[in-house]
Order: sequence, then C-alpha cells, then structure tokens
Amino acid sequence: MTVHLYSSASLSPYATPRVVTDLADCDFYHTMDIPGYGHVEGAWDLRDDPAAYLGHVDFRGKRVLEIGTASGFLCFYMERQGAEVVAYDLCEDYDWDIVPFAGQDAAALQRERKAHIRRLNNGFWLAHRAFGSQAKVVYGTVYAIPESIGPVDITTFCSVLLHLRDPILALQNALRLTRETVIVTELLWRHPLLIRLLARLRGPYMAFLPDYRLGEPRETWWLFSPAIMQQFLGLFGFTEMSLTYHHQRYRGRRQALYTLVARRPTTA
Ligand SMILES: C[S@@+](CC[C@H](N)C(=O)[O-])C[C@H]1O[C@@H](n2cnc3c(N)ncnc32)[C@H](O)[C@@H]1O
Repeated sequence: MTVHLYSSASLSPYATPRVVTDLADCDFYHTMDIPGYGHVEGAWDLRDDPAAYLGHVDFRGKRVLEIGTASGFLCFYMERQGAEVVAYDLCEDYDWDIVPFAGQDAAALQRERKAHIRRLNNGFWLAHRAFGSQAKVVYGTVYAIPESIGPVDITTFCSVLLHLRDPILALQNALRLTRETVIVTELLWRHPLLIRLLARLRGPYMAFLPDYRLGEPRETWWLFSPAIMQQFLGLFGFTEMSLTYHHQRYRGRRQALYTLVARRPTTA
C-alpha cells in the first residue's frame, strides 16, 4: 500500500491535495461546469435540483462528512451553502466491494476499477482547485473511517449504500462520528406512488441485485425500500425522519430517487 497521498503530519487523516490541471487525466461521475475548464460530462447530472438530492437540509455552519464524494459536485454545492466539508472516498489503494461471481476474474475488474478511481480522484482535485474549495479529503474504505476526523454534524450517504456489501457496518462506522443528522439518497426502481403502496403491503424490504445466471451487476448489491432504510437509521438512534422523492438526470434520462433525512432526537 502506498502512503504518498497522506499528509506527513503523522496523525492527520487528510490527503495532501493533488495538483491536477489536465482534463485528459480525469474522469467525471457528475456533469459539472468547472471554472476555467467549462462543461464536463458525467453519468449523473444533479445540477437542476441538488437541494432535493440532499433532502433540503440547511448546511449553514455545519461540519459535514460526505461519504463517496466521487467528482465532488455535492461537496462543492454544500460548501456554497455554508458547510465545512470532509469528503471521504476510495482511492486506488482500496478495493471496491465487487460481487464475487464464480468464474469471473475479480482481480482484473478490481484493477480496472482502481484505474478509474484514480482518474475520478484526479477530476475531484482539478475541480477542487478550480472552485477554490476548502474541503478536506480523506481516503479509505467506509468500513474503517478514522476517528481522527472528529465529530461532524451531518453525514451524507448519497448513492453509496447500494454499492456496499455491508451497508450496516458502513453506517455504523460513519454514524459514530455524527452528532445530528444523516442524509441517505438511494435509487427508486418504480414510481414513488407504487413504492408507497408496496411499503404498505410488504413493509420494509431490500432486494439483492446480483444474478448468478447473468453474472451481473458486478458493482451493485442492493435496492433498499425507504422503509428498510428508516429501520437501519433508527437502529443507530436517528429516529426523527423526513422522506422525500425527486427526479434527477442519469445518462440523459429522468431517474426517480428518494432522500431520507434522519436526526437524533433533540433533548429539551
Ligand atoms: C455512485 S457514487 C455516488 C457519488 C455521490 N455521492 C453522489 O451521490 O452523486 C459512489 C461513491 O461511493 C464511493 N465508494 C464505493 N464503495 C466505497 C467504499 N467501500 N468505501 C468508500 N467509498 C466507497 C465511490 O468511490 C463513489 O465515490
């Protein structure tokens, strides 16, 4: 494992900013308009309604831990709303939770992912500098978030839990540092009205997506109903919840999502 990304101050968890100035070294997950570089295309375009994607939470004066920042579009948005953001993500030193289908070359896929993650991290740093961002970055797996980050007011888990083999362990790790609020955004696979009806009929549920007959998907594990996500967050003491539905653009098409904002109860 290489350690060159980390600050030489031995206990600091924060990455030393990378100087990246060439778009050719980058991949982007988010569509963004980057000062000095212009328009870059990513799979997700959240520009129309980032507030809905983040559950309309007020970020003024809040310290935020953003799990899975990818290209940083939400990081820079939250900063503009007045947050101090610690952006957390994988870098090439850490493994993606790949679905271990028998007969597939998981090592080759892992190498492919790592090359992509390096280019994604580059895109983040290019945009970080261009936006004049003050956000700090910590690289690691979500299953071992360093305590040295210290307490945060808000943690975001946007489109991350579906990619994790162990979503509960990930939540447990991050929420031990979280004083007030957690924001979870996840995909909806049906119209919100149908999802509400299903919730009444079936209660909380999650679907396991990998299909051994197809050998797909290899990087996504779950679809969570809003009701099961409420159960997960309640488990960790975040019991005051608000649930909203919204649409965002994924590869040019409208995609339905939900956002659950859950708070620890305020003591009188
Ligand atoms: C689908 S992207 C979501 C990006 C952004 N949060 C959003 O909602 O637009 C998933 C993010 O989670 C990160 N991620 C995936 N597995 C992870 C893990 N085990 N530990 C930490 N981050 C992880 C990915 O690197 C990526 O940045």
